Amino acid sequence: MNNQNSQSTTEGDALQPNPPSSFSPFGLDLFGEPIRPETKSPVAQKFIVSPFSVLSARDGAWQDRKRAWTGMGIQSELGRADEMTYMGAAKSFDHYRVKEGVRESTEEQGTSIFDPVVCELMYSWFSGKGAQVVDPFAGGSVRGIVASCLGRKYWGGELRGEQVEENRKQGADLCPGDTDLCWEEGDSVKTLDNAPDADFVFSCPPYGDLEIYSDDPDDISNMEYHTFKAAYGRIILKAVKRLKQDRFACFVVGDFRDKKGFYRNFVSDTIAAFEAAGARFYNEAILVTSVGSGSMRVTRQFEAGRKLVKTHQNILVFCKGDWKKATKAAIEGEIQTNTKTI
Ligand SMILES: C[S@@+](CC[C@H](N)C(=O)[O-])C[C@H]1O[C@@H](n2cnc3c(N)ncnc32)[C@H](O)[C@@H]1O
Repeated sequence: MNNQNSQSTTEGDALQPNPPSSFSPFGLDLFGEPIRPETKSPVAQKFIVSPFSVLSARDGAWQDRKRAWTGMGIQSELGRADEMTYMGAAKSFDHYRVKEGVRESTEEQGTSIFDPVVCELMYSWFSGKGAQVVDPFAGGSVRGIVASCLGRKYWGGELRGEQVEENRKQGADLCPGDTDLCWEEGDSVKTLDNAPDADFVFSCPPYGDLEIYSDDPDDISNMEYHTFKAAYGRIILKAVKRLKQDRFACFVVGDFRDKKGFYRNFVSDTIAAFEAAGARFYNEAILVTSVGSGSMRVTRQFEAGRKLVKTHQNILVFCKGDWKKATKAAIEGEIQTNTKTI
């Protein structure tokens, strides 16, 4: 997003539309500098959150930040058919996410959105200002809106027309005039051929058939796992092909169980697909998510089958080419901005 917003807000305030190019979800101070909430850790002050391999979305500071983002009016859950939420042959989109502990339900709707703080961190850590983001499984609007707010260009490939329509409406409302914020309807295995060259690939794919988004034959979420894996691998291959040399990619994934109750090993399959496409596995972070409804299931689930209630996701980061050069590309612009605001 390229619009300026001179309005200053206090910590915890809702995000205002039309954010500035130097952007903070907490607004600007009297001098027009982005507000960074006080933290005891100088490392966190510098990098928003300390870049350790365990990230806790349960922390109060994280939750405050998330509230500031969602207060902007991002409604990433819009665009999914009602019958995909809590009912239907496919069962629920969010029901399963919540069940697996991959997502938490939101107070507002009983549905959930991809965490905007994860977007903020990944964009800030692994891409620079002005970077082109390519997201082959866009889903809701959040990754696009946050990209725009942080001065990144965004291309999101999404199969379902109703989702694309909803995202475009949200984009026009929250990031008016941003011509670099774009959602493309269609099968990403085809649309990626015409996607822009990427400085950062960032996505959250369907987790096999855990949530079935549509009955479109190109929708990889309604495929048998072996077919899913092949189609998923082809889309990752195309995305990595779009990624410029010496750049990072990040997929947020979580393992899930097959119908017999065993894990699919989806995290490892994702890593294998990126490695096969020519991007090397570079970082993994465990994102600790809230317990949510898990506390109501934990006793039964553990007693019945010794299954642990899952309260984490895996953030996988890959590098195509030289990580030193990729780091240089990511920090150019971004670190200068950060040091200015500390
Ligand atoms: C996990 S969802 C993304 C959800 C998103 N992270 C969010 O928070 O809203 C994956 C998306 O991939 C889309 N999808 C499935 N198959 C696709 C394909 N072949 N090409 C493009 N998008 C596809 C689905 O329609 C769904 O919206």
